[in-house]
Amino acid sequence: MLTITDNNALREQLIEWHQVGETVALVPTMGNLHKGHMSLCQLASANADRVVVSVFVNPTQFGEGEDFGAYPRTPEKDARQLSRAGIDILYAPKAEDIYPLGVENSTRVFVPVLSDALCGEHRTKHFEGVTSVVMRLLNIVSPNVAVFGEKDFQQFVILQRMAEELHLHTRILSAPTLRDDAGLAISSRNQYLTAAETLSAPLLYATLRDARDKLLDGESIAKVESAAIKTLTNTGFSADYFSVRRSSDLSVPKKVAGKLIILVAAELGKARLIDNLQFET
Ligand code: PAF
Repeated sequence: MLTITDNNALREQLIEWHQVGETVALVPTMGNLHKGHMSLCQLASANADRVVVSVFVNPTQFGEGEDFGAYPRTPEKDARQLSRAGIDILYAPKAEDIYPLGVENSTRVFVPVLSDALCGEHRTKHFEGVTSVVMRLLNIVSPNVAVFGEKDFQQFVILQRMAEELHLHTRILSAPTLRDDAGLAISSRNQYLTAAETLSAPLLYATLRDARDKLLDGESIAKVESAAIKTLTNTGFSADYFSVRRSSDLSVPKKVAGKLIILVAAELGKARLIDNLQFET
């Protein structure tokens, strides 16, 4: 595996692959890699000849008072895992290579409406930061496919919309959420949980499953959403939202029909956890 920090060196390698007709997949990450990221890498390998994994803790997607400084950074461990998985390039750019004019003066990419809903209501500018960095990474690497996790389902829908609307040539793929044995979605932020919180965290997914079953049994969306928020609050979570949406565009469904998704974001101690569950009637 090559570890590349320099954009010119990356470009040279990409040109070589391009000349022999090899396809490229990009897996954008913020590092601190876990099993979930490795499953994205597997999907990437299955869909292209070469895989580039970017590791960049993107400052523009963190709000004031969020965990940009504390976000876990484990570069050596990440490199070992990626090398073991047969990844071709670990691309670890410096902030000045991604934002040459500095973060404040940088050009932004924004997908309206979708970016303002759900997590966007609670983390203003978060998705603008995500689309602004992913657009740059896609332009730098020009991959045939890029892979994102379904745990961040809103992010995936926004990036798909961006790619479609801006006529990008990269196919945006998603990989299913990986869970631990108790059902908790694997995330870098799980390490902020205390031992006691780790025991109650799987309730998030249990609440999603319970809500899905009630919706399929004919209960109303409003009733199911408010009961779930009550359950989460009673067990120590502080819920930002618990919401039933259409999975295609995250719009609010009038009734329980078609392809739906239930999305939740809730704080438990220092960790802000998100999860979702897709289902079909
Ligand atoms: O999902 C993430 O880890 C980040 O939002 C991403 C897509 C790497 C952009 O910084």
